[in-house]
Amino acid sequence: MKGSILVTGGAGFIGSHTCLALVEAGYEVSVVDNLRNSHPGAVERVEQLSGQPVRLHVLDLLDVEALEGLFRGSHFDGVIHFAGLKCVSESIDQPLDYWYTNVGATTNLLRAMERHGVGRLVFSSSATVYDPTSALPFREDNPLSPINPYGRSKLTVERILGDLATAGSPTRSISLRYFNPVGAHESGTLGEDPLGTPNNLMPIVMRVAVGRLPYVTVFGDDYPTADGTCVRDYIHVMDVADAHVRALGFLESAEGHTAVNLGTGQGSSVFEVLDACAAAVGRPIAHRVGPRRPGDAPVSFADPSLALKLLGWRAERDLSDMCADSYRWQAANPAGFGSPFPELSSRSNS
Ligand code: NAD
Ligand code: WQD
Repeated sequence: MKGSILVTGGAGFIGSHTCLALVEAGYEVSVVDNLRNSHPGAVERVEQLSGQPVRLHVLDLLDVEALEGLFRGSHFDGVIHFAGLKCVSESIDQPLDYWYTNVGATTNLLRAMERHGVGRLVFSSSATVYDPTSALPFREDNPLSPINPYGRSKLTVERILGDLATAGSPTRSISLRYFNPVGAHESGTLGEDPLGTPNNLMPIVMRVAVGRLPYVTVFGDDYPTADGTCVRDYIHVMDVADAHVRALGFLESAEGHTAVNLGTGQGSSVFEVLDACAAAVGRPIAHRVGPRRPGDAPVSFADPSLALKLLGWRAERDLSDMCADSYRWQAANPAGFGSPFPELSSRSNS
């Protein structure tokens, strides 16, 4: 065993895929999640895919006593902190919820780590910390100026981690600034299953592909880009997961706090995503062009060179892999984790 890792938000989209990568890399994994935006079936599938146990603690990081009980009863060599709220529009409507959960829960976690001598933290940050009007591609030293409460809550956590480093805290940390994680595990048994109506492009496209939604509304085709639609740096969730495994290794020797982009360095427009998904699905993705969505930057993509330098990591999978794996997951699990495990259902039918 390489060590014991606590994964907060490990039942969620990126967390569950990272749990699988961690178990496959030889770590013992425990998950803490309040299931606010996830399904316990995600953790069960990690166990089924890996053949290893993954303990799920259903608790809220805002519950200080429960968190203390968890740390008192376990030994962790590091923490990967995914738990939080991630919807930009919701953060504008309910800023207090976002500050309380994304910042309050993180300070609870950091205090528990400090009390129990857990010295390594990988934090889920976001490309939304950048000033969206700053120079492309976004480098880690670009101006930081998020334009919504969600992004400001992420930047605040990065600043807390920086303050801890300045104060000489034993907590060594890395903030991974994800661009647009999409895709699913190549098995088709683990994928993205947001509760309620999805907001992000790929889960909407996939629901259209399996008939759960009638069409995709393209938010504007009059941007100053080649085809008029917004450009984003989509990155496969398993590449993101692999970067977390490398980040834990990096923290064995790194001091203080470091921020690193996770992107491919390639931008794709909304129309390019629809075309790539149509190729993966084998038929066109129904869509209609609608008005722009307020707050959308025309173009966002990463300079991923620091991740290569510090973590030895680069994205391996391309947009067609992302679409093919998303569709394999969605087609095999049209109702998400509420669907029967594909292998078990085919066995019981035979
Ligand atoms: P997700 O919603 O699927 O996962 C987050 C998990 O945290 C969920 O399982 C949820 O139930 C849990 N959670 C929320 N509040 C909690 C609390 N108080 N206590 C315990 N558990 C709690 O989201 P995701 O897409 O997997 O994102 C993971 C992290 O990465 C988030 O912090 C998000 O802000 C960040 N991020 C995501 C993206 C993206 O596009 N998905 C991009 C950049 C950054
Ligand atoms: C992608 C593109 C939309 C839906 C957000 C957060 C970011 C990160 C990822 C957490 C945009 C277009 C979308 C639709 C569309 N999350 N679109 N029709 O906005 O780049 O990033 O999620 O950290 O922080 O800001 O991602 O998937 O919502 O949109 O045309 O129904 O698809 O305009 O160009 P976004 P997204």
